[in-house]
Amino acid sequence: MKNEKRIVLTGDRPTGPLHLGHYVGSLQSRITLQDTADQYVMIADLQALTDYAKESDFVRKNVFQVALDYLAVGIDPQKTVIFIQSLIPPLTELTLYYLNLVTWNRLKHNPTVKQEIVHKGFGEGVPAGFMVYPICQAADITAFKATCVPVGEDQLPMIEQTNEIVRAFNRTYKKDVLVEAEAFLSRAARLPGIDGSPKMSKTLNNAIYLSDTSDQVKKKVQKMYSDPRHLRVEDPGRVEGNPLFYYLDAFGKETSKIEQLKEHYRRGGLGDGVVKKHLLEVLIDFLEPIQKRRALFEKDPEGVMDILRSGSAKALEKASSTLSEVRSAMGLTY
Ligand code: TRP
Repeated sequence: MKNEKRIVLTGDRPTGPLHLGHYVGSLQSRITLQDTADQYVMIADLQALTDYAKESDFVRKNVFQVALDYLAVGIDPQKTVIFIQSLIPPLTELTLYYLNLVTWNRLKHNPTVKQEIVHKGFGEGVPAGFMVYPICQAADITAFKATCVPVGEDQLPMIEQTNEIVRAFNRTYKKDVLVEAEAFLSRAARLPGIDGSPKMSKTLNNAIYLSDTSDQVKKKVQKMYSDPRHLRVEDPGRVEGNPLFYYLDAFGKETSKIEQLKEHYRRGGLGDGVVKKHLLEVLIDFLEPIQKRRALFEKDPEGVMDILRSGSAKALEKASSTLSEVRSAMGLTY
């Protein structure tokens, strides 16, 4: 694979605007990868419908919000193919073929899906479409013959499932049509929530959004969790596992200032208020240019839709070509 260009496929469900956790977990990698790889970034509206079937209007609105977030952070449509999943019918057809190569038992034990079922409170009422979404995801990845998938840590089981399907397909139909993919984890694969829980997520209501106003960011930083045992200013505090410092490391640029704050915090005598004040500055510095770009694109919805339509046309071409290889390997050539 040495001299071959990497093919990258990733995406997000349009169920809300993107937050800092998305940035650290995957957006950052995409911005880097687009300079060296063939990159496809998908707005996974079909996947969003697996748990928002009755709110298709909400999903539709968020397709636009996620597109704005992508463009605002610097995913560049000249370098990256940005597309809408539902505009690519070959993905659904591939899903149907792959469903026959995976056991129900295997699906039930997918750790990400299991956790989500608990979080979303589905119980036995989980939609069948939700249970099989890892297979749709395998279709997404393999349709583009992606070799590299930049995702958050929680999506690792999806890559594993994808590669199992790739091997099963190539073995069953005796042809090396599909290609295995590798996960690409960022340095900080998971950003804690403002409530200190290990993962920032919309469902847990502990996220700072890329589109939050300075005022909203301020309120969130003020109530952020820190070291629960750091009660008085003079007490020594813990830096490790403290979300305040985690965020500073992830978004701060002045490393020496951050190191100073850490040292002072550990020693005692540094209040959370001072750290939060610096963190707020860091976050606003980080978010400001993103929000300026977001506002520009927001004023031009037709321009944004044109980007998505032309990306989708390119994506359709690539996915259709894989689909015809798949059909021909399966002997579906009537
Ligand atoms: N599951 C991803 C999310 O929850 C979205 C997604 C759909 C995806 N298909 C994908 C990510 C393929 C990576 C590769 O946001």
